[in-house]
Amino acid sequence: MWDCPQYAAPMVLIGILTLFFFLFDALWSLLQVCRAVLAPLFIPNEETSLTKKYGPWALITGSTDGIGRAYAFELAKRGLSIVLVSRNEEKLKKTAREIEMKFSVKTKTIAADFSQGSEAIEIVKKEVGKLPIDILVNNVGKNYEYPMYLTEVPEKDLVDIVNINVLTVTLMCRCFIDDMKKRGRGAIVNSYIKSFTAALRFEYRRYGVTVQHLAPMFVDTKMNAFSKRLQRSKFYIPNAEEYARYAVATLGKLDESTGYWTHGIQCFFISMVPVWIRTYIGAHMNLTLRKDYFRENHIPNDRLNRKEKVC
Ligand SMILES: NC(=O)c1ccc[n+]([C@@H]2O[C@H](COP(=O)([O-])OP(=O)(O)OC[C@H]3O[C@@H](n4cnc5c(N)ncnc54)[C@H](OP(=O)(O)O)[C@@H]3O)[C@@H](O)[C@H]2O)c1
Repeated sequence: MWDCPQYAAPMVLIGILTLFFFLFDALWSLLQVCRAVLAPLFIPNEETSLTKKYGPWALITGSTDGIGRAYAFELAKRGLSIVLVSRNEEKLKKTAREIEMKFSVKTKTIAADFSQGSEAIEIVKKEVGKLPIDILVNNVGKNYEYPMYLTEVPEKDLVDIVNINVLTVTLMCRCFIDDMKKRGRGAIVNSYIKSFTAALRFEYRRYGVTVQHLAPMFVDTKMNAFSKRLQRSKFYIPNAEEYARYAVATLGKLDESTGYWTHGIQCFFISMVPVWIRTYIGAHMNLTLRKDYFRENHIPNDRLNRKEKVC
């Protein structure tokens, strides 16, 4: 085939088109984050349009710390009243007071432990009652305490991870999406479960419900407190407030987003390399973080797998 000149032009064209679509796809997300962030500077009322577009109430899970807390403040700044959900009553009340004092919006607090699966959702459902939830941010998530091998993770932690990251997110969507459908508006932001979110978006878009998948890279929160290294780079690892400021600006504009512009850059470069190289880099990074954790916590090196190679 390569000796036949009549195939050369179509092959070159296919190559160019493949490259074009690949680069377009990779750059699109980054360009959209820029657009979403710059729009409020040029379009009046963009900052307050979420209440008009979706309604006055947002519910955020895991909202007393990190990204969830920053989301609560960012949405309240845009005029939304906030339902805060996490485990600790005292932290909930304190966060609610801070929001009410800073912005003239209402708040409601619900204490529920999402590792309890459907029991937690029953509590949320009962406490929310007839309050319309217009924006649902499924933020709460659990990770390993530090980078571990699967067999090192306590079984209870694995059950909690599935309950928190998968089961309760699915049940929360099920709980509130029908009312959004009836009202003909609403938004759901999911962290972690990509395919489920994409399917839900496809099913509910026609009813005016936005379903966004948010996939941050590292954000400086207590989830990453195990590593000092992850608190060093402010450029690539923003704090939760900075992250939420950008991420909330993408709501209603992007179906999929890293939520932060430098994460968009990282995502672009990561998507350029083959999966096996990405896996290698990811594994190397986790081994480095794991070694940091052992060093910082004075855990003797013999806990390390001898075969682990870390620079
Ligand atoms: N930080 C990152 O680099 C990063 C990167 C990618 C994705 N994410 C995702 O972003 C989300 C937020 O992460 P984050 O770093 O902001 O977390 P974080 O700082 O650890 O905050 C977690 C929040 O969730 C609450 N919470 C924890 N366990 C809970 C449970 N079982 N039931 C109910 N509430 C619970 C905590 O409050 P209480 O302890 O008082 O309950 C707190 O308000 C997670 O889904 C995470 O996977 C984070």
